Amino acid sequence: MDDGARNVTESVAMLTVSAEQGVRTVIATPHFYRSEETISSFLQRRNEALRRLEGHIPEGMVLVPGAEVLLQKGLSRLDLRDLCIQGTSRILIELPFMPPENWIYEELENIALAQRLDVILAHVDRYMAWYSHDKIAAMMDFPGVSVQLNGEAFLESATFRALRHWLPQPKRLIFGSDMHHIDRRRPNLEEAYKALHKKALGRRWMAQAEQIGPTLLLPPQPILSLEGFL
Ligand SMILES: [Fe+2]
Repeated sequence: MDDGARNVTESVAMLTVSAEQGVRTVIATPHFYRSEETISSFLQRRNEALRRLEGHIPEGMVLVPGAEVLLQKGLSRLDLRDLCIQGTSRILIELPFMPPENWIYEELENIALAQRLDVILAHVDRYMAWYSHDKIAAMMDFPGVSVQLNGEAFLESATFRALRHWLPQPKRLIFGSDMHHIDRRRPNLEEAYKALHKKALGRRWMAQAEQIGPTLLLPPQPILSLEGFL
């Protein structure tokens, strides 16, 4: 429904590769852009897309509806609860690809404090060019904020070395794949975990993320199927 899988076949292929890598729960996070669409129209499109996958999800795998919400001016004036990972108050927020400006902090503050949602900052490894260590640390000071890193951040030694200095000592860290297609930006969590396992800091991050990651992401009750969510 956005720049991800082009059809059901590709979605199922990516889910199958993920299942082979040991992934049991996938959070579906298509993009939401407030400047382009209303929340209700987005939810309708997303739920229709998820319905098309019913009956094709690998056995034992659970798919949880969510969204990747671009931080834009005025976003926090919308009621964002329906964009949270279903069954939780956790919302995946994508920062704009630009140097941080005051309005970005204000929007985050409103989402975290006024709306009382737990913000997960998407793929923060992609912002190293614009954000300093201090800027990310300041964002993590808002209550409930955690950071998500993409698998490919660990596949290049140079990026991993840069991350260890740039990322604040992660109080809240989540690993995720950048699953977009079967050939490029493909499911890569197994590769990423292997790369992390080779480094002492990587092993520490993994231990920390494995301990707290599921509690930061998933609903308190186990989800057995999409029924009841769509
Ligand atoms: Fe993104």
